[in-house]
Amino acid sequence: MNFHHLLVERPLPLTLITLNRPEKLNAMTHETRKELLCALEAAREDAECRVIILTGAGDKAFSAGADIEVLSRFSPEDALSSANMAYALCDLIEKLGKPIIAAINGFCLGGGCELALACTFRLASDRAEFGQPEINLGMMTGSGGSQRLPRLIGKGPALELLLTGKRISAAEALRLGLVNQVVSPETLLPTADRVAREIANKSPVAVRMTLDAVNRGLETSTEEGLQIEGRNYSRLYATEDLREGCAAYFEKRPPRFQGR
Ligand code: COA
Repeated sequence: MNFHHLLVERPLPLTLITLNRPEKLNAMTHETRKELLCALEAAREDAECRVIILTGAGDKAFSAGADIEVLSRFSPEDALSSANMAYALCDLIEKLGKPIIAAINGFCLGGGCELALACTFRLASDRAEFGQPEINLGMMTGSGGSQRLPRLIGKGPALELLLTGKRISAAEALRLGLVNQVVSPETLLPTADRVAREIANKSPVAVRMTLDAVNRGLETSTEEGLQIEGRNYSRLYATEDLREGCAAYFEKRPPRFQGR
């Protein structure tokens, strides 16, 4: 596949997707989102890919958000169709069935932050900066930020970011639980690679069922969430991977999971 705004590499069992428009701080257009949808669908169908890492090209930005030049010309109808496209992309990220780790190397703003919020979890370089600056433009989030940010860091801290539009440091993002880990810029991708490979060594079925239980369960009541967990938990007892995991434990050897 030929992409204009993305680089896609396959350091198997991983796929590395890089937003690649560094001269515009990886600001995203409709085309970027279409390409991301395509690349993620390909990674989902790629039997050899178990975990995806999403990062930004250059040393300044993960993504500085949606392209303001494009946004500034939107009609209300354009805005809705752009928001729907972003929702579809974030929905695909959450329901892909494979973890997607955001490796945040710099500015992570607006739609860039919302893209990172949809990812399974976030690792950041100590140079990263986060924010939802839409309010400074008389706008608001249009890629799910008003929903995912409060669910992740709580209503008060989320509203402070959404209403002030201020940028926060990686250290502050760590304190708020927006990112899981902060490392030096040089160790960001190696750290993401190590964490991704650790997960890639697990049973892909157990990983998929866990993602599904957490993602769907959080959108419903605890009671319904427990039903989802119970169903997924019991399904794993029909997999060869679970037998292999237990056999490997008793035989004191590393398991070899096949994903079935
Ligand atoms: N959309 C379109 N272009 C963007 C962009 C965005 N969201 N963010 C940065 N760029 C472009 C700049 O216009 C500039 O392009 P140019 O060199 O052709 O003029 C280039 O990327 C570099 O950005 P610049 O502003 O010169 O870098 P900086 O280090 O001085 O400032 C930011 C970095 C992130 C603080 C600043 O670019 C910014 O505020 N960007 C907008 C962030 C935002 O509001 N995002 C939400 C959009 S809804």
